[in-house]
Amino acid sequence: MNYIISLLSSVFRKIGSVFMSIFVALGLVAGNVVPSGNTITFKNSDDIKLSAVFLSDTHIKNDTVSVQQLELALKDIKASDERFDVFALTGDITDGGDSTSFNLAWDTVENSGLSATVLPVMGNHDVWTTYETGAKQIAEKASEYTGKDIDKPYYSYDVKGYTFIALGSDAPSDKANISSEQLSFLDSELARATKDGKPAFVICHFPLKNTHGLPDVWRAGDGDIGEQSEAVRAILVKYKNVFYINGHLHTGIYSASLENLSAENGVYSLNLPAYGQPNAKGTFKGTGIGVYMEVYDGKVIFTARNFEASQPLGGFEKAFSLK
Ligand SMILES: [Fe+2]
Repeated sequence: MNYIISLLSSVFRKIGSVFMSIFVALGLVAGNVVPSGNTITFKNSDDIKLSAVFLSDTHIKNDTVSVQQLELALKDIKASDERFDVFALTGDITDGGDSTSFNLAWDTVENSGLSATVLPVMGNHDVWTTYETGAKQIAEKASEYTGKDIDKPYYSYDVKGYTFIALGSDAPSDKANISSEQLSFLDSELARATKDGKPAFVICHFPLKNTHGLPDVWRAGDGDIGEQSEAVRAILVKYKNVFYINGHLHTGIYSASLENLSAENGVYSLNLPAYGQPNAKGTFKGTGIGVYMEVYDGKVIFTARNFEASQPLGGFEKAFSLK
């Protein structure tokens, strides 16, 4: 009797396995298909001027878990009828900064068929193997994706008349060592980007000093951008409608996710949760959280979403009327 039960059990497992293989091939298993009704929808698809997704701290390594997590976000974005202009990976793209992990990250993004321009930003984990390895990977891929000749860890990218400015460390550091040349670049690019009243978007892995609950929310040390924090901040607040978007802290959505850097000029800092690792603080602490942005005439809207589970969060939506 036991033999018969065991045999039947084995047969049913095999049948189940065959059906599962077919479902996987057809993309019908949970996680491969975004249920209709849960896909991303813009507030006003007809009038949108610019759109972007920001994922931080994906921490890709040579395993299937981190890669599949990124694949799920890309599937979620592609499942939407909306089209995104930019897909920004705001640092700690990899966990160890090794070439294998970088190649897995790039291959995953490139094989997804995403139409958005990918903007890679340097994080501290991206230079863990060597600074040169990380800096080379970021600059080469930023060049390839933007079509610009980029040989620095910082660059700008214009799309539909709007400017994204990516910052990165100019020297080996567990923070960002921002050279005077990079500070000048930030200053001149922001002047150019905002001169016609358009908002500009600065993406940097590291938060500014004493923002987003720092230093208390960080595990050890300061957790901020480093020595040039005040210099960067002073440049940001000179201009109107500047949005500084950072990750690094591995904190979910919490009271300090948004910082007002200049009420007068409408300059804000937005802290992104870690996408690929659990978060330490906040309402949504799980993995899979990122933020998408809609830009309209006179308005910028940031909405947090669980891209991994293809679910709206409902807990974080910030709209800014431009100055
Ligand atoms: Fe990280």
